[in-house]
Amino acid sequence: MADSFHRVLSAAEVPPGTKKAVQVGDRCILICNSNQRLYAISNICTHAEKPLERGRMSATWIACPTHGARFDLATGKALNPPAVKPIATYEVRVVDEWIEVLIKEVAT
Ligand code: FES
Repeated sequence: MADSFHRVLSAAEVPPGTKKAVQVGDRCILICNSNQRLYAISNICTHAEKPLERGRMSATWIACPTHGARFDLATGKALNPPAVKPIATYEVRVVDEWIEVLIKEVAT
């Protein structure tokens, strides 16, 4: 299967300063509207696999609500312990008022 953009939400559903979790296949993705742009990141913290969707979001990062690790919204990099591994990030775009996320299929 080829890489493809998946329509996940209308742009109006994620106003500035908010975030919303969506499921795309087996991936749980968090759409974040912060710093005047959209980000799409994995909703699952790499420390103990807890969801990030209720975490505090600042301009460029989100904090895990469970133990406080922060992740860069653009790169997914873990910014402080206890997480050390990055979270996945996804290319995101808006087409006709719909938010679309690029899912790259892993060759098997
Ligand atoms: S589960 Fe996220 S920091 Fe522990």
